[in-house]
Amino acid sequence: MLINRPRRLRRTPALRRMVCETVLSADDLIAPLFVVAGSGVVRPIRSMPGHAQISVDQLDPEISEIAELQIPAVLLFGIPAHKDPTGSSGWDPEGPVPQAIRAIKRLAPQLTVIADVCVCEYTSHGHCGILAETPGSGDVLNDPTLEILARCAVAYADAGADIVAPSAMMDGQVAAIRAALDAAGYTQVAILSYAAKFASAFYGPFREAAESTPAFGDRRAYQMDPANGREALREVELDIAEGADMIMVKPAGAYLDIISTVRQRYHVPLAAYQVSGEYAMIKAAAQLGWLDERRAALESLIAIRRAGADMIITYFAKDAARWIAAE
Ligand code: PBG
Repeated sequence: MLINRPRRLRRTPALRRMVCETVLSADDLIAPLFVVAGSGVVRPIRSMPGHAQISVDQLDPEISEIAELQIPAVLLFGIPAHKDPTGSSGWDPEGPVPQAIRAIKRLAPQLTVIADVCVCEYTSHGHCGILAETPGSGDVLNDPTLEILARCAVAYADAGADIVAPSAMMDGQVAAIRAALDAAGYTQVAILSYAAKFASAFYGPFREAAESTPAFGDRRAYQMDPANGREALREVELDIAEGADMIMVKPAGAYLDIISTVRQRYHVPLAAYQVSGEYAMIKAAAQLGWLDERRAALESLIAIRRAGADMIITYFAKDAARWIAAE
């Protein structure tokens, strides 16, 4: 007779619940939002069904819903009225993100507000920093960019952000931002660093959403090569040494091995970003009737948790919180 029969523990729903190893809760979710300059705007994003660019005056229903669903945090991206070569709207205190931070803190003070820190939404060329003089080179100058990223971070702290999340993949960005925040008196503002951010095709829909597609070239001279795992660990190690309070792996689904290794080696809270393309793939297949959206989305999220992520930034945040509550 067979001695080992793993099916014994799968026999009933109660048994399956008892032996379940990984739980997904609304507490683990972070909802990204695209805040656009102007007023009266709710502009749906074609490649991200269910998401829209929203102006600050229209945020109320969205924020109330997120708070009611017990999602603990939002991650803000801004689409400014005006773009220039250095992305100066990024640190304008009246820009979309600082305004949104202040509005959200009024509407739902308990919500944790995370501000993405990058200038690709704010630069006329769509790159994540200041470009070298050589026209069309697409070469982003590292150290001059640190200064503007630090300015953005301080502007978001001024507005009341709890956490800033540098995503430009410039060397030394965490240290530069930590120093600037501390000098401005924001020793309590935390840094969630996009430590291992890969140059990924899965960011496609986001670039439509944030209007941040590079006008020329690509991001491979600053974001990581998807082929590299050890280098991701080095990036994480450097960011922790520079003072990152939390780290992130991005994208999530195709990088579960990185999430798992980072979880085992490091002891800071770990976030994973299920990016726009991961969302769009499931949405599109579901719209065609090829996948069950709810099951596929929840499975993708539980897999990211199982790999070791403590929290997940996902465009499914509201749906997932609703599905979890209904279970
Ligand atoms: C900004 C940034 C990007 C994303 C988050 N922050 C785009 C990029 O690097 O091109 C992608 C998020 C997503 O695809 O959902 N640097």
